[in-house]
Amino acid sequence: MCGIVGVTGKDNAVQILLKGLKRLEYRGYDSAGIYVNDQDGHEYLVKEKGRIADLEAEIGSDVHGSTGIGHTRWATHGVPSKANAHPHVSADGRYYLVHNGMIGNFAELKKQYLSDVTFKSDTDTEVIVQLIAKFAQTGMATKAAFKKVLNLIDDSSSYSFLLIDNQEPNTLYVAKNKSPLLIGVGDGFNVVCSDALAMLDQTHDFIELIDGETVIVKPDSILIEDTDGKRIERKPFHVSTDASAADKGAYPYYMLKEIDEQPGVMRTLIKHYISEDGSIKIDDNILQSLHQSDRIYIVAAGTSYHAGLVGKELLEKVAKIPTEVHVASEFGYNPPLLAAKPFFIFLTQSGETADSRQVLAQVNEQGYQSLTITNVENSTLSREATYTLLLYAGPEIAVASTKAYTGQIALEAILAKALGELRQVATAADFDVAKELTKVANGEQELVDEKKDIKKIAAALLPTTRNAFYIGRSIDYDIVQEAALKLKEVSYIQTEGFASGELKHGTISLIEKGTPVLAVITDKHTAKHTRSNAQEVMARGANVVFIASRSLAKDGDQIVLPDVHPLLTPLVAIVPCQLMAYYASLQRGYDVDKPRNLAKSVTVE
Ligand code: F6R
Repeated sequence: MCGIVGVTGKDNAVQILLKGLKRLEYRGYDSAGIYVNDQDGHEYLVKEKGRIADLEAEIGSDVHGSTGIGHTRWATHGVPSKANAHPHVSADGRYYLVHNGMIGNFAELKKQYLSDVTFKSDTDTEVIVQLIAKFAQTGMATKAAFKKVLNLIDDSSSYSFLLIDNQEPNTLYVAKNKSPLLIGVGDGFNVVCSDALAMLDQTHDFIELIDGETVIVKPDSILIEDTDGKRIERKPFHVSTDASAADKGAYPYYMLKEIDEQPGVMRTLIKHYISEDGSIKIDDNILQSLHQSDRIYIVAAGTSYHAGLVGKELLEKVAKIPTEVHVASEFGYNPPLLAAKPFFIFLTQSGETADSRQVLAQVNEQGYQSLTITNVENSTLSREATYTLLLYAGPEIAVASTKAYTGQIALEAILAKALGELRQVATAADFDVAKELTKVANGEQELVDEKKDIKKIAAALLPTTRNAFYIGRSIDYDIVQEAALKLKEVSYIQTEGFASGELKHGTISLIEKGTPVLAVITDKHTAKHTRSNAQEVMARGANVVFIASRSLAKDGDQIVLPDVHPLLTPLVAIVPCQLMAYYASLQRGYDVDKPRNLAKSVTVE
């Protein structure tokens, strides 16, 4: 989704902004732009539809500056176009603004205050910059005009803003509400970004902002004010991520690199959370809070939701605690009847998903305890939950989530073991989580080393098909939902992840000669049933591929998975499915790391 970068106090502002925008490319965008100025009154605005490379080609060698702002746009109001790309400029040419988020009442503001202004774009953002200019024209100082506009924006809105007044060339005006934004602290310069990754080449020290605050950033000062204008002092936090962890290295695509990193993620989680003697290193406060609850609610979106489905299996079967899993965008507006002592777990790779965040805001209002499991230290959901556990998976750049899914499940397994031990249930005592996850890591390694076979199967099965099915039962139904999401998001093949027993109740009518059906079989209790369901679709012409655990495999099964603990089979079964999606996307000629219409971090509801 949209990305923001800004810098003040560096001679090479253009290069810093472009590098920052490139680091945010993975989030998904359709146009980009920068504005820079220098102390001598030169200023440049360059915008382009398409990729950062297209923007870079438009930037002439004369474009330079020491202060600037940049943006990648993921269209919400108005089509992707040069005119709708940010930064937007006020009609009098004084103010330049970039914005992430959505202004709920932009049409009302435009009607009430700006009927005499000619607009150049269809965006809600332009309304804001025109309004700031309008108030400044009445004699208001920029800070006052900016704050006045912030007060006019309604509660349904979300924003992070970065504003430049060209009469104050080395100053960035900053504000945020519900959208992420950080100030990066430098020596003689400062930066602003919507994601620390964008500026790790400049600094590792960042100051978080709280909703409603406004900040004035100059090369040697950062002035934070709360809504009442009171000065706030806040120490920076340190981000230890190495900027090179976000590079592709020798890999052609991030998605392949991240699939291959999964065995390493398992080992890192074991190292972080399990001692040599097998005891689990999770903050006792987290475990006690979970222990005191009578029902766990896992709330998440997309792939993280699918990791939650497996989390439910683990928490109920290992720790014996009732657990529900909910799609965040549904839960927030239609919550279930809650148990007497609920505990909430938010699963989120990015830690920024707006759908999950709005649920967390309600959970906080009601005074319930919560835990965010995330890959991004200091992300919004991490800061706003009672507790956080980190995945330590390294930056996930490809839009399609892979290593975060397996990392989340592994951490849920560790949590289930620790909670089960505290609850003194026998199932937990029997679950040697370190040993089982080590087996998983070895199994995943075996699978990522066998890519050629998957590539061949993808080439035979998926090059031209319009639709496909993944089928399975029980824990295999959890797996196929994620497998189908992976395939559809990067290959654009309409894919359903279906409970195989449910096919005959309607959906089997979609099966025709050649329809690809991938049957996942890792659960011994339902293996026979899934095979019968596969026979039913084969009888109707489907092209069936079996993906089965070694101990359940039959002659002729195309993909055989290493045997692992029955509750951890998603961690190995998903690997060939991720690879299948990867190869199908490339074979169909798509950019697998940046699928159309998608964004990595979904910061609007
Ligand atoms: C799919 C994918 C998305 C995310 C979803 C939630 O590959 O990446 O479905 O899982 O947008 O994002 P997070 O986990 O960041 O909350």
